[in-house]
Amino acid sequence: MVGSRLSFSLCLVLNLSVTAFSSLEFSRYDFPTDFIFGAGTSAYQVEGAAFQDGRTPSTWYTFAHAGHAHGATGDIACDEYHKYKEDVKLMVETGLDAYRFSISWSRLIPNGRGPVNPKGLEYYNNLINELIKHGIEPHVTLFHVDLPQVLEDEYEGWLSRRIVKDFTEFADVCFREFGDRVLHWTTLNEGNVFVLAGYDMGFIPPQRCSPPFGLTFCAKGNSSSEPYIAGHHLLLAHASAARLYKKKYQDKQHGFIGINIFGYWFAPLTNTTEDIIATQRAKDFYLGWFLDPLVSGDYPEIVKKNAGARIPAFTKNECKQVKGSFDFIGINHYLAIHIKDNPEKLKTDQRNFAADVGVDMISTLGPPGQYPVMPWGLQGVLEYFKQVYGNPPIYIHENGQQMKRNTTLNDTARVEYIQAYMGGLLDAIRNGSNARGYFIWSFLDVLEIIEGYESSYGLYYVDLDDPDLKRYPKLSAHWYSGFLKGKNITPDEANDITKNKMALSNARSIQ
Ligand SMILES: *[C@@H]1O[C@H](CO)[C@@H](O)[C@H](O)[C@H]1NC(C)=O
Ligand SMILES: *[C@@H]1O[C@H](CO)[C@@H](O)[C@H](O)[C@H]1NC(C)=O
Ligand SMILES: *[C@@H]1O[C@H](CO)[C@@H](O)[C@H](O)[C@H]1NC(C)=O
Ligand SMILES: *[C@@H]1O[C@H](CO)[C@@H](O)[C@H](O)[C@H]1NC(C)=O
Ligand SMILES: *[C@@H]1O[C@H](CO)[C@@H](O)[C@H](O)[C@H]1NC(C)=O
Repeated sequence: MVGSRLSFSLCLVLNLSVTAFSSLEFSRYDFPTDFIFGAGTSAYQVEGAAFQDGRTPSTWYTFAHAGHAHGATGDIACDEYHKYKEDVKLMVETGLDAYRFSISWSRLIPNGRGPVNPKGLEYYNNLINELIKHGIEPHVTLFHVDLPQVLEDEYEGWLSRRIVKDFTEFADVCFREFGDRVLHWTTLNEGNVFVLAGYDMGFIPPQRCSPPFGLTFCAKGNSSSEPYIAGHHLLLAHASAARLYKKKYQDKQHGFIGINIFGYWFAPLTNTTEDIIATQRAKDFYLGWFLDPLVSGDYPEIVKKNAGARIPAFTKNECKQVKGSFDFIGINHYLAIHIKDNPEKLKTDQRNFAADVGVDMISTLGPPGQYPVMPWGLQGVLEYFKQVYGNPPIYIHENGQQMKRNTTLNDTARVEYIQAYMGGLLDAIRNGSNARGYFIWSFLDVLEIIEGYESSYGLYYVDLDDPDLKRYPKLSAHWYSGFLKGKNITPDEANDITKNKMALSNARSIQ
């Protein structure tokens, strides 16, 4: 998860909100029968085996090894590379319909392009086969922050148009090798926030930015122009891979291809006309920047106006390729933000993306280290997609609660959050949203991009002090499992279920 961090680092702060863990007023049978429930991870965050079997470094590896994740790295992570069978077993026990994971480009194609690594192929074939054998749908993301470092070094990765061809070839290998079993492909994770955090503010890989950002961490970059250039290439790369899939594979493989964006929700801080207009501007910049080209073939007018010559233009042909290049949209949603008009930002020289929006973003604080529970934000995003973008099929690819990572398996706050958001999701579906699935972030406590192992989102705790990296179910795993098995679990029952298990794991941690 990347995006919520972006808003916290950018925003003023407002203090309110809390909810109660009441018993559920719905069960999974209230959702459409073909609606799928899952949980997710990404390659660098869980696999480990960073040096094994021919894998080469990615930009995320470089970032973590420079100490930016509280000194933690993905060298071992949760070691899913070796423990995938055990993890699939846990997924089965939990009752997941689907598992969302990503493919490490530098494991599959160590030079970024060219020869395919047979050991990389073998790993992903094994994982996919294990999932299928147990009736769990693989939902695969191709790019989740971790660009092969070799491509960053050679031509500055997403800043070069050359990325379009290399990404398409990587995608081609994935479709060809795994597409007989993988029916849900997502080209890019959180394209909008990947660019803002990586090229505007520069606090995630590849860490590019210029003043006012980056006094501490960017060696190079240009926050005025690079976010728009990288964003443009992401859209072109997505469109190119989607076109390839549709032309060459879809008829035979019968799968679906989409793209994921970070789905903020924005609400005006006050009901003044200025704040209401500013809120629409925030939607146009943070959502429309990607969604308008995908749905209508061009950037929103206000984005083109405020970014001027810094945003590349689509050629006629590119516009045709990008428009409609998806079967579904994946959304990562964690929080809603209040918007206040700030025209002063538009008067600064060397404007960057955030300044081009001309707003102040005001976060609501939850309990320390946690998100506030604002499920109307998810409903807002889904309604907006319904009304403005033609109600495309949507997968909620990420949603979940951050907490401090520790041996406390009683993550009641996570259960409260998830339960509230599922309720909001159900309301949106009942009001006509085309949402098709919901994935909790994250299945395990993974390496988080900034927080490392300090905070976590997992349904399962991973004991990093144990050489076996044993997994322990938290209250949220029991709760989700109960829900998936059609029960309506009350907090008391959930606590009861978890008491024995917690006693067991406490015994272990005392040894
Ligand atoms: C960033 O790029 C813009 C547009 O190309 C240019 O005018 C500006 O001088 C560059 N800024 C920096 C800090 O390099
Ligand atoms: C703005 O108006 C709406 C509709 O009347 C109301 O629900 C909302 O609470 C108001 N917001 C603020 C911040 O006053
Ligand atoms: C563990 O994290 C929870 C939730 O963030 C917190 O309430 C609790 O005090 C922490 N426990 C320890 C032992 O640090
Ligand atoms: C439900 O959908 C209708 C029609 O699109 C819309 O006008 C209304 O605002 C929606 N209700 C909520 C609560 O979002
Ligand atoms: C878990 O924590 C909640 C509040 O944080 C508390 O009400 C509940 O009793 C705890 N459950 C167990 C089994 O300790």
